[in-house]
Amino acid sequence: MIDALLKDYQAKLDSRFDIILSENGQLYDEVISACRYSVINGGKRIRPVLLLEFYKLCNGDDDCAYNFACALEMIHSYSLVHDDLPCMDNDDMRRGKPTCHKAFGESTALLCGDALLTEAFLVASKTMGIPSERVVKAMAHLASSAGVAGMIGGQVIDMADNTDSDDDVLFEMYRLKTGALLKTACAIGCILAGADDKLVEVAEMFGEKLGVAFQIIDDILDGTSDTKTLGKTAGSDEKNNKDTIVVRLGVEYCRELAKKYTDEAYECLEKFDGDCSVLKNLATYLLERNY
Ligand code: IPE
Ligand code: IPE
Ligand code: MG
Ligand code: MG
Ligand code: MG
Repeated sequence: MIDALLKDYQAKLDSRFDIILSENGQLYDEVISACRYSVINGGKRIRPVLLLEFYKLCNGDDDCAYNFACALEMIHSYSLVHDDLPCMDNDDMRRGKPTCHKAFGESTALLCGDALLTEAFLVASKTMGIPSERVVKAMAHLASSAGVAGMIGGQVIDMADNTDSDDDVLFEMYRLKTGALLKTACAIGCILAGADDKLVEVAEMFGEKLGVAFQIIDDILDGTSDTKTLGKTAGSDEKNNKDTIVVRLGVEYCRELAKKYTDEAYECLEKFDGDCSVLKNLATYLLERNY
């Protein structure tokens, strides 16, 4: 059931990306091709789906939030393009294909990431049919979650040598580098639908817990799966001597930990009146995923 739902969302999002990211015969088309290559390529689309499902849960039952959902996925996709660069994780495969810098060269990959980040805010600003105060509030949430106190901050911690750091530092890194974008996805869905601040906070808590569980599973899969299944380079963390929570505490313990975070996320959903079954199924799917 969740597979069919995700496929449906993926197709709808792809048809929008096809329009948002269209080449137009200009001298700079190369960077647009790199953007298309890095966005329209079979990502799971978890973040836009969370945004759209929270929008629905808060009674925003129409297509108005799609632009914003695309903007969020553009920011996530940029973070992957930069994360794969030789100066970061130096990876060769992403979403089943050579990474952006392998296909287009490093300078185009760098500019592709810059372009996706910048254009994302243009796309978000074009949201129609939702009061502009909500759109501005959601854009601010997105900016701060993608920025230094969010995803970027997490990536900075990730790049440091954490050998002597406490486990808490690694959890903070997960909360920021991955939790921040999942958290903003859930919050933005509520904000755009006009939910009150209390519900936005609960959605944030759900997203952050799901995000930490998501990164724990990502780290487990990095060390236990293969490149073909993952669609990205398996064993990347070991290659880069990353000090992950899985290396420290072991796979079995970390599976339990991811389950604990997911259970805590479920509990947050009790605060919502509507039907949360899709969000619950999605959280379970993410816990049990193999890529
Ligand atoms: C990968 O995110 C990066 C992490 C935060 C672990 P996803 O696993 O959502 O990647 P795609 O979008 O499906 O490729
Ligand atoms: C990614 O963490 C976090 C980002 C913000 C992009 P990873 O470096 O573990 O993600 P993958 O495994 O390359 O997708
Ligand atoms: Mg990384
Ligand atoms: Mg990486
Ligand atoms: Mg990883």
